[in-house]
Amino acid sequence: MTLKSTLLASIVAVALVTLLFGASISYWHALSKVEAEMQAAIAVGSRIAANAVDDAEESADPSRRLHLLIADFNGDRHLRAFWQDTSGRVIAASHPSTSARAVPDWFHEIFRQPEQMIAVDLPTAFDGLGSFHLQTDSRNEVAEVWDDIWNTLKILGVLCMLVLGCVYWLLNRALQPLSALAGALNAIHKSSDAPRIPETGPSEFVEVYSGFNAMAERLQQTEAKNRRLTEQLAAVQEEERADLARDLHDEIGPFLFSVDVDATSIAHCLDNGKEAEIPARVKTIRESVWHMQRHVRELLGRLRSDGFVDIGLVDAIDNLIDFWKTRYPAVSIELSAPSHPLGKELEQTVFRIIQESLSNAMRHGRPAKVEIEIDHSVEGILVEVRDDGLGMNSEGGAGGSGFGIPGMRERIDALSGEFEVGPRTSSSGVIVRAWLPASGAAAADRTSQQQQNTKRIAADAQA
Ligand SMILES: Nc1ncnc2c1ncn2[C@@H]1O[C@H](COP(=O)(O)OP(=O)(O)O)[C@@H](O)[C@H]1O
Ligand SMILES: [Mg+2]
Repeated sequence: MTLKSTLLASIVAVALVTLLFGASISYWHALSKVEAEMQAAIAVGSRIAANAVDDAEESADPSRRLHLLIADFNGDRHLRAFWQDTSGRVIAASHPSTSARAVPDWFHEIFRQPEQMIAVDLPTAFDGLGSFHLQTDSRNEVAEVWDDIWNTLKILGVLCMLVLGCVYWLLNRALQPLSALAGALNAIHKSSDAPRIPETGPSEFVEVYSGFNAMAERLQQTEAKNRRLTEQLAAVQEEERADLARDLHDEIGPFLFSVDVDATSIAHCLDNGKEAEIPARVKTIRESVWHMQRHVRELLGRLRSDGFVDIGLVDAIDNLIDFWKTRYPAVSIELSAPSHPLGKELEQTVFRIIQESLSNAMRHGRPAKVEIEIDHSVEGILVEVRDDGLGMNSEGGAGGSGFGIPGMRERIDALSGEFEVGPRTSSSGVIVRAWLPASGAAAADRTSQQQQNTKRIAADAQA
């Protein structure tokens, strides 16, 4: 059932109850009115009759006087007068007025009053002429009540139709904004780009609209951010793959080739009796294998970057430093970090910040020196990455256009920390500073523990 029909049904119900209440009050009022009218009519009628026959004492013709009196009551609305002789035969009777409107019998039955009859005392001059009677008749009064009720009902009917019409129109107008809201919700369900609701109309709705518009705006921004992050992820993965392919080709390829050459030359030495050269060849093969092992380990470290915690934060950062040093041997990279563990959640965030900041410094800043510093205290961890490169605006003011810095900020926000990146004051270059409070990390650790527990329980259930 719609809100509109519920409201209309409630209003109609209230009107009906009021009507019933009014009808019962009208009933009691009409009943007592009919009764009072009958009492008054008979009292007035008997006084008129008594006065008339009093005057008739001197009348020479009492019988004519009675006929005239009967005629006086012709057309009376509530009384019937009649004259009976001594044997009880009706000699003459008045003709009460008849109502123009027909009253239904059931209505007459409800309001009808029992007929009252009185005999008017006739003076001695009327002796032997019989008796004179007055009798009430409520039919005309009931017809009047019927008329009153009928008229009232007509007025009430028109009034009710008017009120209901107005209420319906008002409800339609008042509820119109809800359809606008429902339409907007449906549209936003399909796409967050859906048009916003104009913030006009009743103030209560304007508040709802502005809340809705703000929510839609937020949703659109979040979706755009997600899209950008997904694109960024794909780009990073692509770059990483190309990097790995290049590394495999450049670093492993030559050593494999040299192993192949050395192995072939050992066979030649054996064939040509040059056994003395074999140990030197074996040595170079072992050196090549050692180089390949080192590169494979480094590649594995990069491929399993989430698993860096297995080897410890400091070793993981050392791997990172090695990675960049092989590419930029001239850059000096210094690390100052506590050797004790910091907690899984914090270590992962610290590692990501250093990874991104170091990569930014090397890729965008062309520095001579990068300093990485991790300070651990009971309140939390302070991470600083400083380079002496070209600075943030070195690439035409691009600062902040990528995803690395927002990504770092989001990670730190998740741990209720603080983050800033900007130019160094003491020299050229950029400083990245992140503060991770111990409380935020503890909360994050609990969440991650809970997630692991949930995963474990789900795995157990599947098993
Ligand atoms: N250490 C830095 N030295 C010079 N410029 C930097 C440095 N760090 C960040 N930037 C600038 O800030 C921009 C945004 O960095 P980031 O959000 O990591 O995106 P991306 O590295 O993908 O470009 C970079 O494009 C670069 O112009
Ligand atoms: Mg970056």
